Amino acid sequence: MRTVGVWRTGHICALLAALLLQLLQPAVGGSWAWSQNVPRLQISHAELRSKNSSAVFWRGRSGGGYRALLLDEDRGWLLVGGRDHVYLLHSEGLTQPELKIHWPAGREHTERCKYAGKNLLTDCANFVRLLQPFNKTHVYVCGTGAYHPECTYMDLGHNIEEPTFRLLGHAVESGRGKCPFSPHEPFAARLTDGDLYAGTSVDFMGNNAAIFRTSVHTTSIHYIRTEANHEHWLNEPQFVGSYSIPDTHSLDDDKVYFFFKETAVESNQLDKRIYSRVARVCKNDIGGKRSLINRWSTFLKARLLCSVPGPGGLDTHFDELEDIFLLETKDPQNPVIYGVFSTSSSVFRGSAVCVYSMASIRAAFNGPFAHKEGPDYRWVEFKGRIPYPRPGTCPSETYDPLHKSTRDFPDDVVSFMRGHQLMWEPVVPIHRRPLFTHIGAPYRLKKLVVDRVEAEDGQYDVLHLGTDEGKVLKVVSIPKENWETEDIILEELSVFQSPILSMELSTKRQILFVSSEEEVVQLPLHRCELYGQACADCCLARDPYCAWDGTTCSGYIPISKRRARRQDVKYGDPWSQCQDLGDGLDDIELKVIYGIENNSTFLECVPQSTQAVVKWIMQHGHNQNTIELLPGDNTIHTRRGLLLQHVTSSNAGLYTCTSHEHSFSRTLARYELQVIPERQMNAARSARLAEPRLAGNYAPSPPHYKDLQLIGVSGQTADEYCEKLWLREKRKQKLRTLKWKQTAENRKSRVRRQNPPYEPLQ
Ligand SMILES: *[C@@H]1O[C@H](CO)[C@@H](O)[C@H](O)[C@H]1NC(C)=O
Ligand SMILES: *[C@@H]1O[C@H](CO)[C@@H](O)[C@H](O)[C@H]1NC(C)=O
Ligand SMILES: *[C@@H]1O[C@H](CO)[C@@H](O)[C@H](O)[C@H]1NC(C)=O
Ligand SMILES: *[C@@H]1O[C@H](CO)[C@@H](O)[C@H](O)[C@H]1NC(C)=O
Repeated sequence: MRTVGVWRTGHICALLAALLLQLLQPAVGGSWAWSQNVPRLQISHAELRSKNSSAVFWRGRSGGGYRALLLDEDRGWLLVGGRDHVYLLHSEGLTQPELKIHWPAGREHTERCKYAGKNLLTDCANFVRLLQPFNKTHVYVCGTGAYHPECTYMDLGHNIEEPTFRLLGHAVESGRGKCPFSPHEPFAARLTDGDLYAGTSVDFMGNNAAIFRTSVHTTSIHYIRTEANHEHWLNEPQFVGSYSIPDTHSLDDDKVYFFFKETAVESNQLDKRIYSRVARVCKNDIGGKRSLINRWSTFLKARLLCSVPGPGGLDTHFDELEDIFLLETKDPQNPVIYGVFSTSSSVFRGSAVCVYSMASIRAAFNGPFAHKEGPDYRWVEFKGRIPYPRPGTCPSETYDPLHKSTRDFPDDVVSFMRGHQLMWEPVVPIHRRPLFTHIGAPYRLKKLVVDRVEAEDGQYDVLHLGTDEGKVLKVVSIPKENWETEDIILEELSVFQSPILSMELSTKRQILFVSSEEEVVQLPLHRCELYGQACADCCLARDPYCAWDGTTCSGYIPISKRRARRQDVKYGDPWSQCQDLGDGLDDIELKVIYGIENNSTFLECVPQSTQAVVKWIMQHGHNQNTIELLPGDNTIHTRRGLLLQHVTSSNAGLYTCTSHEHSFSRTLARYELQVIPERQMNAARSARLAEPRLAGNYAPSPPHYKDLQLIGVSGQTADEYCEKLWLREKRKQKLRTLKWKQTAENRKSRVRRQNPPYEPLQ
């Protein structure tokens, strides 16, 4: 893991590793199999927009720029921060009328912003970037104010039915160190105990970003920040997220964590690499007494590693953190941290999701420090004496009565802190590799939220991932033996045509809210009914949100003790779950197809699931041996069916298309291919009659009557031929009707129909 300073030729290495990774994909366990990267359900933008769609789109009449969302689960509100406006929507349904506050930038600031060469529409307005709960009635809000950030409170009142929703205009204060100047700059902030912890820049140019604490409430402790212009503290950081996480039962140990990426000082100087980081500060840090005055005296950072192990240590690194999600658990000290990352390389594009435990983060901060040393002045592990109390420890009276505050720290601790911010060991993800990778897609994963879902066979973490192209992926990661996981992309929704800016999950209402520059959308967490009409389809989907209730695939409710609910997320095995598997599945109608000798013909077969493998079986006649058709010189297996390029008489026979998924297979289509000799075609042609359209078309009973009349097959007259066909079709029809009646009358004691006998027509 000691990769510090070894990356001389970073790009080439990354590319090589990427190629190796691609080569290795099928060989490594389930999580890398390409077929898994095909979404089971794909819903287009048009479908989502259609009337029958379960998605609800909301577009404010004035504004756009929906960058900040704040969900209030208890009261059922969704606050949306946009351009010059804050909206209050109802999280039960975005169709309900909204409340709106108009909060534009000051005129002089808009003018100055324009004068500085910024764009009036996209920059010189008040883009609301921060919405944080302050107390039971008030929300703290900050906007960019046309490159002059400002913050204030919004009063929502006590009445849930009729919220007050007004801005405290008299309480407007400077937003410097709380909110960026630019609407586009990545930033992270967290309001906790009346203090705002923010990672943001404090100037017009967006340079010199720092981690600040400013007090929002007057009686609180001091303004404090990271040292300016010290690349060892922060080096062109781009902030992604920040959270307050308790460390022990003592409030004195509470820390605020920042997740970001920055130019790595420890990587080679010539080849500026971006690394992802986690940094932390003590909440009770008030800076040093003689040195580090109003500067963090507990600030430490570590590299957040997300990479795929490769042969010979040639790992593929996903270095650029895009988003972070904190999955709360019963233990407030130990949430699970989910990060979505992308590669830095412009050649090899890929995204990955890595998961970290707080234990691994704490381990890095409790481990050795890094420092620069030696004749070549390289970054190495610090092996010298570490002063007491250990740098990075929060002052606490119970721990050491001499250190009531950071101002009581001995000088050697403070001077050590000045020179040592970086930890030597990186934070490694759970199982030392990504949970999920998405490689070769034209888009990047940018946002994530995670839902821990109770299913029939355990708990699953379902990832909802937003992309830079407006898609939302729903992915479930299923643990396997040996710490392997199997990842399934359940859904790919083309929600917007522009990047996803923010996502909020309402577990209470089972809704995902997603915003873009122009719109906010409300999406249900599942669309079970679209997986298919049969129990097997529902089971094979392996969506923890869905189960078969006896008649349909529908949302799974863990509290209901109904035994009839069928679900198998872990194995997706319909044999164990669905009794009535034969029903309508193997009972597929035999279609007759005519192929003209030397010409091509096409047998259609489209599986319901994109993850199924399709196989073709061929039989020359009923009691003949079956042959599996492999892609060869005469047959081409396409996603929609089988293409026979040059039909010969030896191709005549029975064709069966089956889909295979896990242990489950089923028949999708059955064809009888009859081959019409070329000379008969030519005879038909020479009779100067219309060109028959046979190849590629099914010939279910009379529709091709006309065409057939022209050919004459094997000495029969076309009329005789058609009669035969038609009769057979009618017999089938009759059987089907009979069967339908039977099943309707008595489902249990129904008799399975025999397939009509194979009757070669020649
Ligand atoms: C909406 O209805 C159309 C036609 O009735 C159907 O093709 C489409 O799949 C439906 N879309 C959804 C999302 O249900
Ligand atoms: C919430 O904070 C606001 C602003 O400081 C204050 O006016 C209000 O009284 C507070 N409300 C409660 C319930 O504490
Ligand atoms: C058609 O196929 C036969 C053999 O099946 C071959 O002898 C003949 O040359 C082919 N005709 C054309 C026009 O390709
Ligand atoms: C094959 O079929 C197509 C259309 O059905 C027709 O245009 C073409 O002429 C046929 N070729 C031969 C060699 O019969």
